Amino acid sequence: MQQQMILVVTLLGMLCVAIPFILIARSTASSVSPTPLFDDSSRRKLLWVLMILGVVVTVATLWVWPHRVVAGASTQAVNVTGHQWSWEFEPKTVTAGSPVIFNVHAGDVNHGMGVYNADKRLLFQVQAMPGYVNRVEYTFDKPGTYQILCMEFCGIGHHTMMADLTVTPADQNESAPQ
Ligand code: CUA
Repeated sequence: MQQQMILVVTLLGMLCVAIPFILIARSTASSVSPTPLFDDSSRRKLLWVLMILGVVVTVATLWVWPHRVVAGASTQAVNVTGHQWSWEFEPKTVTAGSPVIFNVHAGDVNHGMGVYNADKRLLFQVQAMPGYVNRVEYTFDKPGTYQILCMEFCGIGHHTMMADLTVTPADQNESAPQ
């Protein structure tokens, strides 16, 4: 969803740049003494409009990106530590339908935490770094078994850094005793 929005905004931006170029190229090709597309005052107005539009679009699209972390009553937290060569994380089970905040760091060298669904599709990724806690929020739509893989080469056992995260249906956990 967010990726599609970024794509649309990028394409619109490219169009805004391309159209004046095409118009200018056309006007210079057809006449010996080209008439300016805009007079001075409308050019100034256009500049202001574009600058304001640029600020608004930048703020609006970067506000929730790359990783917005919202803590609420229904928020679940999973603490993840990457080691050579395993993932240590707690809890091992989360609930579908409500946001999960992953607090990710590394015990030794840099790792990359990538979470995949059952179709081996990458859902999100975040760097696991020594000395830092990187947070990423994700809401799992469907229950099931998800896989955590390392996405940064971290030594000879890099490919063995795999772990399973279980996502349970939303109603199951709500009715469970506290
Ligand atoms: Cu950890 Cu690659």
